[in-house]
Amino acid sequence: MIKKKVVVAVTGASGSIYAKVLFDQLLELKDQIEAVGVVMSDNAKEVWQFELDNEDYNHYQDYTFYNKNDFNAPFASGSAKYDTMIIIPCSMGTLGRIAHGISNDLISRAADVILKERRKLLAVVRDTPFSLIHINNMKTVTEAGGIICPANPSFYSLPKTIEEVAGTVVSRVLDLAGFEQESYRWQEK
Ligand SMILES: Cc1cc2nc3c(=O)[nH]c(=O)nc-3n(C[C@H](O)[C@H](O)[C@H](O)COP(=O)(O)O)c2cc1C
Repeated sequence: MIKKKVVVAVTGASGSIYAKVLFDQLLELKDQIEAVGVVMSDNAKEVWQFELDNEDYNHYQDYTFYNKNDFNAPFASGSAKYDTMIIIPCSMGTLGRIAHGISNDLISRAADVILKERRKLLAVVRDTPFSLIHINNMKTVTEAGGIICPANPSFYSLPKTIEEVAGTVVSRVLDLAGFEQESYRWQEK
């Protein structure tokens, strides 16, 4: 099995719980992973503090965290061969910067690299409702090869906790990223 090199970017959209659940799930999948690099925007840290009331992202010592302005991070260049990038949650601001090639921070640069190298970009966008600008930006990123995977939970697995609700989205993201994992699928036992 070829192990994955994954970039996880967390931005300042609502839904820090999605990032937390993804961090937890990736720990369970570590035999399928060579490296996880994480970059958080300033707003991501603020929203995490506000919504989850902690700074627990500091506790994930299996992952390598990079400063949002660190253009020397390995995945700021195509040669490091990170194969997958997951932006979770993805703000409309970050989506717009990616759609327009404005690589002015490590998140937008890493996404630019993933797209130019024709690797896998998953953007878990979150806002409601969408403006035409948002929709056009999602179209542009899709046309460039990215996958827009909105933070739309499902409820047919009868989730009981907020983590389980968020897990319905994260599970879909991990499927799309190509991980082998146990996940509830509609009409499957
Ligand atoms: C509590 C809170 C919730 C937010 N929720 C959203 C959201 O769901 N979607 C979004 O696009 N922006 C949201 N924002 C605004 C973004 O944080 C803001 O546009 C920021 O500039 C995004 O920058 P970043 O993408 O670099 O994190 C929220 C801000 C706060 C403080």
